[in-house]
Amino acid sequence: NWSMGSFIDKEIERIRTLVGPHGCVIGAVSGGVDSTVAAVLMKRAIGDRFHAILVDNGVMRLNECETVKHTLNDSLGINLTVADASDLFLSRLKGVTDPEKKRKIIGNTFIEVFEAEAHRIDNENKELGRDKIEWLLQGTLYPDVIESISFKGPSATIKSHHNVGGLLEDMRLNLIEPLRELFKDEVRALGSLLGIPDDLIWRHPFPGPGIAIRVLGEVTPEQVDIARRADHIYIEEIKNAGLYRKISQAYAALLPVRSVGVMGDQRTYEQVIALRAVETKDFMTADWFEFPYSVLKRISNRIINEVHGVNRVVYDVSSKPPSTIEWE
Ligand code: XMP
Repeated sequence: NWSMGSFIDKEIERIRTLVGPHGCVIGAVSGGVDSTVAAVLMKRAIGDRFHAILVDNGVMRLNECETVKHTLNDSLGINLTVADASDLFLSRLKGVTDPEKKRKIIGNTFIEVFEAEAHRIDNENKELGRDKIEWLLQGTLYPDVIESISFKGPSATIKSHHNVGGLLEDMRLNLIEPLRELFKDEVRALGSLLGIPDDLIWRHPFPGPGIAIRVLGEVTPEQVDIARRADHIYIEEIKNAGLYRKISQAYAALLPVRSVGVMGDQRTYEQVIALRAVETKDFMTADWFEFPYSVLKRISNRIINEVHGVNRVVYDVSSKPPSTIEWE
């Protein structure tokens, strides 16, 4: 007689027993469905003894940090700290063009910022007479568990996916993984039951290195800004067209080339936005999404008119394999 409702009750009991009456837990949240569902479960189980950390790496989507903070903190009542490290991340990305180097820099900086924040919270807890932090929450799903014990799939080996692995050794925390037996659709169902808004539950996956691997070539604040604005318009129009849930993942990439255009009687020489949208079940293989031309036309017009510095928009018609979903 297994249901999500009884899963919630049982899992909350398990967490309470595991952590004890005074134990403290920390965890990183990203605004994605997994980390949010895991965080809400913790909040239900141990209240403010769970402390969530959102690291602003400077390469999240437009207004994403504020939106996530609002939803998690104000609406869902999670004890949340936002660590604004965008300047640090962007300064370290300066001059770097190699995709794997970008991933490493972002992954390592993330760990550094997260740990510093965790130590700060630990000290704060000490002053409040609370227990030391002994637990780390992770929103690991069943497929992640399988992937990490079996041979790694192509995307995991070809691109070094960064997650919060590595935190454990440095901080000697115990892992707590309430979603480790669930599939994505079950996590979504659980999220709904926990009162998490639909917008968040159905959000497309977003890579840890964020817009840094969607700005091809050097990542500067100006380039991030252009990619963000274009992406925001793209996603908004996909939602307006009622296609967001049909598409597994969509984003705008900013290409490191300039092309000639014309505006009024002026010649322009500006950048190119590539639109990517795929349908996939497992993200190991993917087909490009067949947009109605009218939707593409609207998106293209809006991006070129509204995003300063862009005079051309192209649509990516490559499947995976041999292409990957991300351009970098
Ligand atoms: P690819 O580009 O390998 O992407 O076809 C497959 C899925 O993985 C995501 N992805 C990443 N996620 N860190 C992440 O957390 C990364 O470095 C990374 N690289 C790709 C990608 O967005 C897609 O969902």
